[in-house]
Amino acid sequence: MKKRIGILTSGGDCAGLNMVLAAVTSRAIHGYGWDVYGIRQGTLGLLRRPVEAEPLTLESFRAPIPRMGGTILGTTNKGDPFAFPLDDGHIKDRSEEFAEGCKILGLDGLIGIGGDGSLNILRRLAHKGHVPFIGIPKTIDNDIGLTENSIGFTTAVDVATEALDRLQPTAASHDRVMILEVMGRDAGHIALSAGIAGGAHIILIPEIPYTLHNVAKHIQTIMKEGHNFALVIVAEAVKTEDGEKVVIADPTGRKRFGGISHYLADRITELTGAETRFTVLGHVQRGGQPNASDRLLASSFGVHAVDLIAQGKSDRMVAWQNRCVVDVSLEEAIKSYGEVEPQGTLVKTARGLGICLGDS
Ligand code: F6P
Repeated sequence: MKKRIGILTSGGDCAGLNMVLAAVTSRAIHGYGWDVYGIRQGTLGLLRRPVEAEPLTLESFRAPIPRMGGTILGTTNKGDPFAFPLDDGHIKDRSEEFAEGCKILGLDGLIGIGGDGSLNILRRLAHKGHVPFIGIPKTIDNDIGLTENSIGFTTAVDVATEALDRLQPTAASHDRVMILEVMGRDAGHIALSAGIAGGAHIILIPEIPYTLHNVAKHIQTIMKEGHNFALVIVAEAVKTEDGEKVVIADPTGRKRFGGISHYLADRITELTGAETRFTVLGHVQRGGQPNASDRLLASSFGVHAVDLIAQGKSDRMVAWQNRCVVDVSLEEAIKSYGEVEPQGTLVKTARGLGICLGDS
């Protein structure tokens, strides 16, 4: 029977999303002769009337769209339909409207590309609307359980590594300590991977407690050994030495991570006398073309997600494990947060290279 499936991107964007949309569309059309509808702006497209969705065809993905950053469908990381903020400040449960939106479109299946928060909401919404649902993990933070990689992560690591490559010569020219602050929310994956790849002397991540004394001591040691500069990479969720979160509030009072590199720069100058500068890398980590790894992941995830719907499966998440695309229970994946393992390979590698992680 010919099916009609919907696809949406939800939560923060990252590199590789258009490649997933292209892979899903291609597999659904070539493999099964189905219709694909791209839902605009995440869950919002199904709450609006008329429903905001467009048919996706092979024409929709003429080059260079699959290689482009961002998402052609748009996305949102606000407006959970179960607790939707209204203009008058009240909160409304709009999950029934979402279910109705799926009915209006006549969906036989829904594929959602999101991080753990979005996938959790989408799974509950799809359950309510009785629509088979498959999740595809994407986030530069790489913090979703049961998958080794999420779409967008390795591209973000490339961007952060390139930033260290660019900071190194200017640090060396001016005898400075350079601090790079990277994203990752509560997980230190980007900082750890880019720190090793980009030759950082110090890597600070939320999963490993640090002291300023250890950081300052390491800078002084490498300077004594003949270095005239030091590179530090810090994950945005690292706290102050006293355990305080460092956040920025926008004019609406909404808080987000930001500023730990500024705090560290001041403390390092006080403790070592070294001239120190900091760079907050921000959203450049999410934009730009996906690298080859993310394109491969996006393609494999997209094809497998469509195949799962064809097999009548639901409430599953596609995942990458041991060089293969597999599928796992979506519920289990959401429950198991994928932070950096303090005894894991990359932490051991960093220590083996003499990189300071702030705990000794
Ligand atoms: O989850 C992805 C992410 O880029 C985090 O690394 C970061 O903390 C957050 O989103 C930024 O969110 P926003 O785009 O709302 O500023």
